[in-house]
Amino acid sequence: MVSKEGIMARKIARCADIPEGGNIVVSLEDGREVAIFHIGEEYYALDNRCPHMEGPLGEGELDGCVVTCPWHGWQFDVRNGECQNMPGEQAKKIPLTVEDGFIWI
Ligand code: FES
Repeated sequence: MVSKEGIMARKIARCADIPEGGNIVVSLEDGREVAIFHIGEEYYALDNRCPHMEGPLGEGELDGCVVTCPWHGWQFDVRNGECQNMPGEQAKKIPLTVEDGFIWI
């Protein structure tokens, strides 16, 4: 599959493996980790490294659309990566596509 940017997309997870209201963490072949969140009918992905000190966002508590970093409590809207309690801070959002029951990035 080719992404909107014209880059070959990779299939990284099966939608059925991500519980609604929860998330999983996927390790990519280049060593990066992606936290994928399932909220309602939608899926969102963030780089698993918190922009503060690289805490594992995928291990944070998810409350609605907001994940709390387990290390120092910064909170991020998983839909866009915006930090809710540290204005101007931003987790890296990773664009994804859902097709044939799989997540592609
Ligand atoms: S590493 Fe996430 S809040 Fe500090």
